[in-house]
Amino acid sequence: MATIVFFCTSCGHESGKWLGQCPGCGEWNSFAEQPAPPRGKKAVAFLRRGTGVVAVTEAAARPIERIETGLEGLDRVLGGGLVPGSLVLLAGEPGIGKSTLLLQVAAALARNSGIVVYITGEESAEQVALRARRIDGLHERLFLLAETSCDAMLERVEALDPCLVVVDSVQTAVLDAVEAVAGSVSQVRQVASRFQHLAKTRGVPVILVGHVTKDGNIAGPKLLEHLVDVVMSLEGEPGHDLRALRAGKNRFGTVAELALYSMTGRGLEPVKNASAWLLEDRRSGAPGSAVAVALEGTVPLLVEVQALAAPSALGTPRRVAHGLDSSRLALLLAVLERHAGINLGDRDIFVNLVGGLSLREPALDLAVAAALLSSAANRPLASELAIFGEIGLLGEVRAVSRAAERVREAAALGFGRVALPTRDANGKLELPTTAISTVADLPALLQSSD
Ligand code: TYD
Ligand code: MG
Repeated sequence: MATIVFFCTSCGHESGKWLGQCPGCGEWNSFAEQPAPPRGKKAVAFLRRGTGVVAVTEAAARPIERIETGLEGLDRVLGGGLVPGSLVLLAGEPGIGKSTLLLQVAAALARNSGIVVYITGEESAEQVALRARRIDGLHERLFLLAETSCDAMLERVEALDPCLVVVDSVQTAVLDAVEAVAGSVSQVRQVASRFQHLAKTRGVPVILVGHVTKDGNIAGPKLLEHLVDVVMSLEGEPGHDLRALRAGKNRFGTVAELALYSMTGRGLEPVKNASAWLLEDRRSGAPGSAVAVALEGTVPLLVEVQALAAPSALGTPRRVAHGLDSSRLALLLAVLERHAGINLGDRDIFVNLVGGLSLREPALDLAVAAALLSSAANRPLASELAIFGEIGLLGEVRAVSRAAERVREAAALGFGRVALPTRDANGKLELPTTAISTVADLPALLQSSD
């Protein structure tokens, strides 16, 4: 028998016997009883009684099972594969490639593992089958269900006992019991929680597709973030083939991982050497161009930052950032003005991350600042130079994580020198370095314009 203790429901004060007034907070009649937490030998007996309580050591010894999807990059973003019983949300703008990606995953799992049910509420089974043919995904264990009734979906899924369920999209599914239109807050919430129940009770991974719109997201992914185990997003720029897949929340892995794909005529193909791919069209030696070494998750990534500082005809000059945070750009411009004496207040400023990628890493700061200076002065940076470092409000250049790995990637791609924060320049690195301690050191990186 576990000993009973009493505790105050108001302040948590514990006592061996019931008390009328709590000595902790003075509250009257606030004591309730609870079993004492087990200690020592008693704990062992307590744990054995199947209470659902488990020692952390025992839980740690049970590995999390993973189903590899076979799609390179996706497994890494998921933290090693899909976890049975998990609910995953794939968010992205319409037309970005969510259905394509998931059909590829569905086909791969049908080939390698078992029955997969792909529920389509937006397109007919024939339309999805056309896409499946295009991506070489025809397999008899891949089942399509064109359905919008959530009850019907759940019933069919139960009967087929699949190893993966894809719901494309959560905004098209409706529960009869909920009196609201498809895609409304209450429908989306209820539908998602029914699929969560299905996932947990049957131990099957369920992937929900959620559309995001450019202007906020009505009844979209934000609403479901707390409910699902993993939120992945597929991003890309219109007119570019590059697609970035990343996890914004992951109960089974890290969140920083990034996988890059290129949209081809036969679906999404993993980009094998992302840095080389991103730098392919670079015109080295052009003023306004700087190569940054970013790090997304475990993958170092070289990417070209292009800046254009042009005289403005407008009273309020334009500030346009593509692929970068525009408030970060404003901050960098202010820091350059104050601490490097460079005034760009009368210029229109455009900054672009080449390739259509969007990155939020502070380590890009130094390359953005260098590209801005280079454009303003019309003097190029050395074409063999790669740059990384975070810029602080006082103009100081701050160390970033995993400098050695970034330098290694730059060396692998044939760069000959790295400009980096002074603190990161200590230690053994694979390339000669130029240490930068404040933004005032940046103009020295510019070549003479000849
Ligand atoms: P889709 O997966 O339907 O996007 P979403 O589900 O996010 O709305 O993909 C839409 C675009 O992808 C569409 O413009 C066609 C293009 N696409 C290809 O370029 N190659 C392909 O193999 C496939 C299937 C689609
Ligand atoms: Mg779609």
